[in-house]
Amino acid sequence: MAEILERSKGAVETSEAQIAVHWREEEYYYPPAKFVGQANLTDPSVIERFSEKNFPECFREYADLLSWDQYWHTTLDTSDPPFWKWFVGGKINASYNCVDRHLAKYKNKAALIFVPEPESEAPVSVTYRELYVRVNEFAALLRDFCGLKSGDRVTIHMPMVPELPVTMLACARLGVIHSVVFGGFSGEACGMRAADSGSRVLITMDGYYRNGKMIDHKAGADIALEIAKKEGQAVDKVLVWRRHLGKNASASPFVKERDFFVDEILPNYSGEIVPPVPMDAEAPLFLMYTSGSTGKPKGCQHRTGGYLSYVAGTSKYIQDIHPEDVYWCMADIGWITGHSYIVYGPLALAATSVLYEGVPTYPDAGRVWRIAERLDVNIFHTSPTAIRMLRKSGHDEPAKYNYHFKHMTTVGEPIEPEVWRWYHDVVGKGEAVIVDTWWQTENGGFLCSTKPALDPMKPGSAGPGMPGIYPLIMDENNEPVTAGSGKAGNICIRNPWPGIMQTIWGDRDRFVTQYYSKYCKNRSSKDWHDWPYFAADGAVLAVDGYFRILGRVDDVINVAGHRLGTKEIESACLTVSEVAEAAVVPVVDEIKGRVPEVYIALQPGLQASQAIVDKVNKAIETMIGKIARPRRVLIVPDMPKTRSGKLMRRVLAALSNNMNTGDITTLANPDVVEKVREMVQGKEAVALADGPEDLKKFGTEE
Ligand code: PRX
Repeated sequence: MAEILERSKGAVETSEAQIAVHWREEEYYYPPAKFVGQANLTDPSVIERFSEKNFPECFREYADLLSWDQYWHTTLDTSDPPFWKWFVGGKINASYNCVDRHLAKYKNKAALIFVPEPESEAPVSVTYRELYVRVNEFAALLRDFCGLKSGDRVTIHMPMVPELPVTMLACARLGVIHSVVFGGFSGEACGMRAADSGSRVLITMDGYYRNGKMIDHKAGADIALEIAKKEGQAVDKVLVWRRHLGKNASASPFVKERDFFVDEILPNYSGEIVPPVPMDAEAPLFLMYTSGSTGKPKGCQHRTGGYLSYVAGTSKYIQDIHPEDVYWCMADIGWITGHSYIVYGPLALAATSVLYEGVPTYPDAGRVWRIAERLDVNIFHTSPTAIRMLRKSGHDEPAKYNYHFKHMTTVGEPIEPEVWRWYHDVVGKGEAVIVDTWWQTENGGFLCSTKPALDPMKPGSAGPGMPGIYPLIMDENNEPVTAGSGKAGNICIRNPWPGIMQTIWGDRDRFVTQYYSKYCKNRSSKDWHDWPYFAADGAVLAVDGYFRILGRVDDVINVAGHRLGTKEIESACLTVSEVAEAAVVPVVDEIKGRVPEVYIALQPGLQASQAIVDKVNKAIETMIGKIARPRRVLIVPDMPKTRSGKLMRRVLAALSNNMNTGDITTLANPDVVEKVREMVQGKEAVALADGPEDLKKFGTEE
């Protein structure tokens, strides 16, 4: 990480809240002329059009990219802050906008290209006409076989296959609220989410390929149902898509009257057409669960009209999607990036969106570039973790393949300038523009990014606020941090925007506390200016107005661009009966950015053993999934604590990352720190690192 954290010596005196950082300013890169010549957004008046004096009406430009059943009367209603309402009075259907309306011009064009992981299986194209047929038939099945209607919730636990967007769009056609749970999450995690959302129906798949193996995926559904039942939610139908028709990749028992193979019932709905239901602009389109600072993931509830407008607008102007492009976003649809920038945004614009089933380096480091060459992909979208992985496993691979990207995205984590330059020079062959888009599950779409044909790129910086997004950095004393001061603070968005979530499903209070309490200027005000959105990310603002995102300031760990709550992992550890206390801290990882490390204190009288470590690892995998697997599980004699008994995660994070532990003399048990240090770092003194900003802040608010 040294390259992103090149700080000058002799740092200025700082408070905990305002950490002075002196980055080396990176040089600008300018968008290639060929890109600019064809770009969707080349008119610099966009800045003026989306300036504060034209807010909120500026967002009509995005909403007008869609086909409305009924136009809205009020662009933004602020009568119940911070529960903003967008395009009030409007009626719209997301499925119609992503499918039906393209038929006249593009029925024969690929909407989706599915690339199976085994190279022996050829890519499969699904045309807009075919997508229309499949979405309608599956919507008929959901309506008539499952009895689902608008406002009902459905949990979807599926891998990266075309049946996933078909399922989502079929739900949207009926106004059924979908809740997609990342396929890599465990059955338990899926069950908790199904219960929270109140889903009666679970849609899953028998299996899929990952790293050359067929994974039994349906087994997770059985566990999910058990967990949901324990939580008080009965799921009475499980629809199982099959990866290979007529074969069952799952060894899990098939429960009669509850489990149904989709391919066995779908023929009953052959050729059915289901009219898209005109939904209120404010009707929820989907839930997406994400980790926060408590043990329980929260269901981010996204609205139909505002969300779809925002992802269509940003896909057009920032992703630069034209209908003739072949667009490949390598994220998983089970995360917000996949919802907004594989499914809804690109399909609203009649793009061709590529879906890859498997691991980017399977069977070798050239796979991604072979896919790009074969499909003639020209827009590529991925995360710094994937870029670091591809760089490490095949530094010179891209040059061997004849593909040409005009545009590339990096999203999900801070990217080191050196990695950025490899992306630009080697992956992009110096021909592609890059956007580093900063945003979150809660936000629906991009918040900060350069406008690809208008702004120069700066490696490691996301860029300015998007059109119509007015970010600022606040310190802990409620004061704005000025541009160019070199001081880090909390990035906030001053205004509402159409993509922002409506609320946390079933928990209005938590929505207000989590995102608005910290910087709200006046609780009784109905003026949006008094309600800045707190993103829980640290950032610095350069004089040119570019934001550099430093990472989370809360208990969230960003593992390979995936958000995990330390409290969630701790709860999983506590399910092991031998464990008395658990603390989870982030550790810097060369490829994944951050990984969790687990500290455990045992119940009195118990001896540390490998068997307990194994149990803890297993519990984490079972309760959350393999993505949460810790680097190490360390059984310590005691946890460092304050005199009032608070567990000091900050001290453990410092030890795990070879950073200075700061003042520990006020702890109740300072001697334990040395014992733990020896366990973590060995007997010899270890050279201390300065550590990245998010780790310096980790645990300081406890
Ligand atoms: O810390 C920020 C980081 O990812 C977090 C949001 O994670 P999630 O809700 O899973 O959404 C990820 C994809 C939108 C943020 O709080 N993050 C996201 N994009 C960037 C980023 N950090 C630095 N640079 C980015 N471009």
